[in-house]
Amino acid sequence: METYFIETWGCQMNVLDSQRLEGLLQRHGLSRVERAEDADVAVLNTCSVREKAVGKVLSRLGELHLARLAGGKPAAVGLCGCVAEQEGARLLARSPALSFVLGPGRIAQLPAALDAVAAGRRVSVTGFGPVRDYEAHLIARGSGARQYVTVIEGCNQHCTFCVVPYTRGRESSRPLPEIVREVEAVAAAGGKEITLLGQTVNAYRCPASGADFGDLLQAVGATGAAWRIQFVTSHPKFFTDNMIEKLARTPGLGTYLHLPVQAGSDAVLKRMHRGYTREEYLGLVARIRSAMPEVTLSTDVIVGFPGETEADFLETLALVGSVRFGQLYGFAYSPRPRTPALHYPGQVSRSEAGERLQRVFEAQSPVQLELNQGLIGRSVEVLLDGPAKRGSEAWQGRGPDNRVVNVQGWSGIACGQVAEVVITGATAHSLLSEVGPAALPAA
Ligand code: SAM
Ligand code: F3S
Repeated sequence: METYFIETWGCQMNVLDSQRLEGLLQRHGLSRVERAEDADVAVLNTCSVREKAVGKVLSRLGELHLARLAGGKPAAVGLCGCVAEQEGARLLARSPALSFVLGPGRIAQLPAALDAVAAGRRVSVTGFGPVRDYEAHLIARGSGARQYVTVIEGCNQHCTFCVVPYTRGRESSRPLPEIVREVEAVAAAGGKEITLLGQTVNAYRCPASGADFGDLLQAVGATGAAWRIQFVTSHPKFFTDNMIEKLARTPGLGTYLHLPVQAGSDAVLKRMHRGYTREEYLGLVARIRSAMPEVTLSTDVIVGFPGETEADFLETLALVGSVRFGQLYGFAYSPRPRTPALHYPGQVSRSEAGERLQRVFEAQSPVQLELNQGLIGRSVEVLLDGPAKRGSEAWQGRGPDNRVVNVQGWSGIACGQVAEVVITGATAHSLLSEVGPAALPAA
């Protein structure tokens, strides 16, 4: 085996897991190719949070099987990520294209799986061991300015709609000094924006010292290593006043805070097992905004959760209207295997959920437009990601609040650079800007 191809589906956590997998593949002597059809080993790093995850995987496996019949490659196919954990040996038995299955808790065993495949065996390794192997130095991070560092793996919350606790196992926090060292190393290697990752990042507790997420942020901020620090995903249940105070005082922290609410009705929140009421969520928003007046909040909303009535839904709409989130990610409830909500009565039809989702977006869009228009004339620093469109002279990046900013008039173009810009225009989903003082409104 000499070459590998890797395909990543889903969240930031999977992006980082793919970099971990790549590091191990490279240490095993394999080099990367850009098409599965050219690879000796193709790895699919999958997501199963929503929709027909298994169907999508099977159809991709079918394509790879046909490619192999036609051209001999990919000679081996590995399934990783949440679908691997969820389906395990079942999928190995079902799909002849598959050579190995490796759950998210078993990434470190990739070399052993490759050896088994080379010896003509098909293997499935899932589950979670007592100790999580996390070889930070082996992560193939590439040269990107945006980088991720895991602080806590797994999730103990068991929201009744969510498959993550089953696919990513119990919570496990990494030692604080190890995280700080990794942040410093990543920044020294060119990482400008470092996002601390966890399913419930603010439930972090250092296993050695008991330091909490506020302490961790302060320690990371105190290094001064990263140009910007972000974190996802916070759970409303875990923010204490003390933590909020520390957040407000952390140097280098962006102004973006993702705070999934999921629903605005107490009855639905209770059935979701979210651990807070509507009132508590709104109180938290007020406390965060009072400590961090510049903060831009974003959220996740699920509509069509089993038993959600029109009145429940209207409470969600009203909450969205009153909080005025800078960004909102809306989802129609998707029944997931093993989750309690799968068996709840009152399943809402797809068309009803789709219609409610549309109404959420219709309520959110003008708010976003208004908030974005309010930023016109402001100076911000934007981390550039690349051309706004193919062949376009404008560049695209993100500001400290995670808003997408299109930048015009940038001549020293380079991906990963920070541009000082002035916001000149706005749509509901992005901002327009120009570089330098020429764009400043006349005094
Ligand atoms: N740990 C995070 C949290 O506390 O919100 C995020 C986990 S999940 C990967 C990301 C988002 O997907 C959730 O916030 C939720 O809105 C959505 N989600 C999870 N399960 C879902 C389901 N069964 N149907 C629809 N949306 C779902
Ligand atoms: Fe999922 Fe709830 Fe954890 S959304 S990842 S079970 S906090």
